[in-house]
Amino acid sequence: MITEAPPLRLGINIDHVATIRNARGIHTPDPVRAAHLAAKSGADSITAHLREDRRHIADEDIQRLTNEIDLPLNLEIAATDEMLAIALRHKPHAVCIVPEKREELTTEGGLDVIGGHNNLKPIIDQLNANGSRVSLFIDPDLAQLDAARSIGAPVVELHTGRYCEVTGEEQDAELVRLALAAAHAEKIGLECHAGHGLAYDTVEAVAEIPNLVELNIGHFLIGEAIFVGLENAVRRMRDHMDRARARIALQN
Ligand code: PXP
Repeated sequence: MITEAPPLRLGINIDHVATIRNARGIHTPDPVRAAHLAAKSGADSITAHLREDRRHIADEDIQRLTNEIDLPLNLEIAATDEMLAIALRHKPHAVCIVPEKREELTTEGGLDVIGGHNNLKPIIDQLNANGSRVSLFIDPDLAQLDAARSIGAPVVELHTGRYCEVTGEEQDAELVRLALAAAHAEKIGLECHAGHGLAYDTVEAVAEIPNLVELNIGHFLIGEAIFVGLENAVRRMRDHMDRARARIALQN
């Protein structure tokens, strides 16, 4: 019997359009234009990470994304007072709290929700009360999931970076970790997302994890856009995800 596959949303991270813009210090390419194109091509939401050093997305981009884009905005921030104030002011649909180190090239590893409880709890409470859907970016670790649940976050995003970096048996093991973590998240009542490093050749196995409801993808798609255009790149990613979800339906 073929049953309906659970839907899997696609969030497009537009940070790296801003990275290219900032390399020249002028106004192009415009990340908000990329968000418009992503919306036309099958994206369900737009993700933007306002880093403390503003190396890509700027404060003005967040304002424009809020004003000009109809899709839900997922604002990624570090757990600091400055970022909390910005998120409270803009009230994005979702706020994903990520660990942030100035010297890193990209977000390395997930949040330590257990060790960071005292800092994170008041931030999550205020964002929840302000109406944003809070998500914590964590490694696929059951203890971190339990901590996310007990601290009051309704959503987690599993870090897929390691799965995308390793190969062979290590990659198989990492996929099992992701699948177990996603199943555990659903069991304890957390909405489960995933992202980081995903590309056409890695997305399908992740999209086949039935407990995931959203993937956030950026760097690979912005790179592909140079060769095939952003609309084609987003559509092709969507196709890979849909194909994977159709396989889940066939298995049921
Ligand atoms: N999800 C989170 C929480 C991230 O920090 C990032 C990178 O900014 C992504 C998803 C997207 O990762 P990538 O750009 O490698 O696709």
